Amino acid sequence: MCGIVGYVGPKQAVPLLMEGLKRLEYRGYDSAGVAVVVDGRLVVHKAAGKIAMLEVQLGRLPLKGTTGIAHTRWATHGAPTTRNAHPHTDCGDMVAVVHNGIIENSTALRTMLRERGHRFVSETDTEVIAHLVEQFYTGSIEDAVGAALRELEGAYGIAVISAREPGTIVAARKGSPLLVGVGDGENFVASDASAVLAHTRSVVYLDEGELAVVRSTGYQLRDRHATPLTKEISQIDWDLATIERGGYAHFMLKEICEQPESLRNTLRGRLLEEEGTARLGGLNLTEEQLARIDRIVITACGTSWHAAMVGEYMLEEVARLPVEVEYASEFRYRNPIVDDRTLVIVISQSGETADTLAALREAKGRGARTIGIVNQVGSTIAREVDGGIFLHAGPEIGVASTKAFTSQIGALALFTLKLGRLRALSILQGREIVGALRRLPEQLEAVLAKKAEIEALAERYVRVSNVLYLGRGYNFPVALEGALKLKEISYIHAEGYPAAEMKHGPIALIDELMPVIFIAPKDGVHAKIPTNIEEVRARGGRVIAVVTEGDTTITPLVDHVITIPETMDMLTPILTSVPLQLLAYYVAVRRGCNVDQPRNLAKSVTVE
Ligand code: G6P
Repeated sequence: MCGIVGYVGPKQAVPLLMEGLKRLEYRGYDSAGVAVVVDGRLVVHKAAGKIAMLEVQLGRLPLKGTTGIAHTRWATHGAPTTRNAHPHTDCGDMVAVVHNGIIENSTALRTMLRERGHRFVSETDTEVIAHLVEQFYTGSIEDAVGAALRELEGAYGIAVISAREPGTIVAARKGSPLLVGVGDGENFVASDASAVLAHTRSVVYLDEGELAVVRSTGYQLRDRHATPLTKEISQIDWDLATIERGGYAHFMLKEICEQPESLRNTLRGRLLEEEGTARLGGLNLTEEQLARIDRIVITACGTSWHAAMVGEYMLEEVARLPVEVEYASEFRYRNPIVDDRTLVIVISQSGETADTLAALREAKGRGARTIGIVNQVGSTIAREVDGGIFLHAGPEIGVASTKAFTSQIGALALFTLKLGRLRALSILQGREIVGALRRLPEQLEAVLAKKAEIEALAERYVRVSNVLYLGRGYNFPVALEGALKLKEISYIHAEGYPAAEMKHGPIALIDELMPVIFIAPKDGVHAKIPTNIEEVRARGGRVIAVVTEGDTTITPLVDHVITIPETMDMLTPILTSVPLQLLAYYVAVRRGCNVDQPRNLAKSVTVE
């Protein structure tokens, strides 16, 4: 949600900033802007729309300057117009600010600043920061930013430059991610490492309340009490090739096709064949602590919430522990009942989702033990949980989550296996799960081999307006996820339901124009599905089914089948979700949609 990049060093800043912005475009893409210090003056360019629009503008007016900041926006306050695009400046055009987050008291600050003579030109909350810095400036940009921050309520990751102090960027964070990229004779600030990876792998993640003063010769950090601080430099262990499209038409397709590898990486080194269990070194929980847990709450948003639901089914069935799944946005305001015997699991691909982070803090505040299932190493959630399981799925750039989802289920299966073995599972049962997990990456390859078949199927459904996804048991969350994928990227209305619930409402919608997708692999509830299919057929509905290879009960009843290899019930979602990802992808591409950057969405939602 909004991308920030800044550069200070000997090189021309604009090409570096534009390159960084493009890597951040997945975070927000409704407008973009750049500010550079040129001969002691600030020059700002902004454009509504994609970064390419800004590029066209800059192509006409090449800018020279070696200190600059840039921003790609996902609008919260004010429409995505050029005027509302960042950077925002003060009345004297001496200070430029880019910001990710929401300033909650911006209306009050705006009124106060107006009374002191400041003139506002945008509708954004961010502009108040530029005017506050102007108000407090008495000779040091660092001190003026520090004073301005004391007035702000809400969340921010900001980068500020001033025409009076060329060669300096002041960056600060509270609630929104920010890091310093440490180079050789040059330094960067960025909201995420992908923006600086082409130039350095060394980064310093800012924590809550911290401020950085960044110059070409080095950087200084201070904490929320303005006390100087030194922090460890982290090394990014993925490279540029991992975040480039590598010949695929879209990041989403690349990431769908990467799933055998991403799942392999999630499982690598964690399966203990002989003992029939999992090795999870990062949990930071002793076996005694695990045994003391009497209840689990899993909290997340979006696709991660669907993975959480699969986790609930697995943990209850296999580890025999009561589990509740809560939307993070609900959990944080519900006065939740958790105590020191409750384990709260937070699931987040980005590790930055504002609601999930707030839910985590709420749980910790109530004494719960917390673990995170997170993809982004170094993210805020990853740093604040007591322990966790990293997905190691590699960067996910496509806004619609795909490989993170299957890896999240893989990680939940590992945790279920570990906890199950401590509580209810025999070594033989444990070994069976280990074996099934080990086979999954290859089975995913078999599903992906059906790409062309699914593409042809998608062709027939390009013009529909509504689709219903139905599943039972472990595949009910897959129905929800399949529907979410389709609506996110193709803008076709889709809903997921437990198959048997259909008759309590959605059945009223079914006619020959509304296809129904049944997710019905061979599992404990398979025998219940044919009746549900007959109910749809009796109303003229067209049916697609995802079934297990060799299925003979459902195949004769439906218009199209997509088969998956056989696996254990609890692992079927990893295989059944992939054809639904491909179907959504091909339908959206055929409809001419921008699948990697669907309208109104953002990859990482760092606002409430
Ligand atoms: C956004 C993304 C979704 C994602 C959700 C949760 O809405 O568009 O794809 O599932 O955030 O993100 P997280 O990073 O916490 O998993």
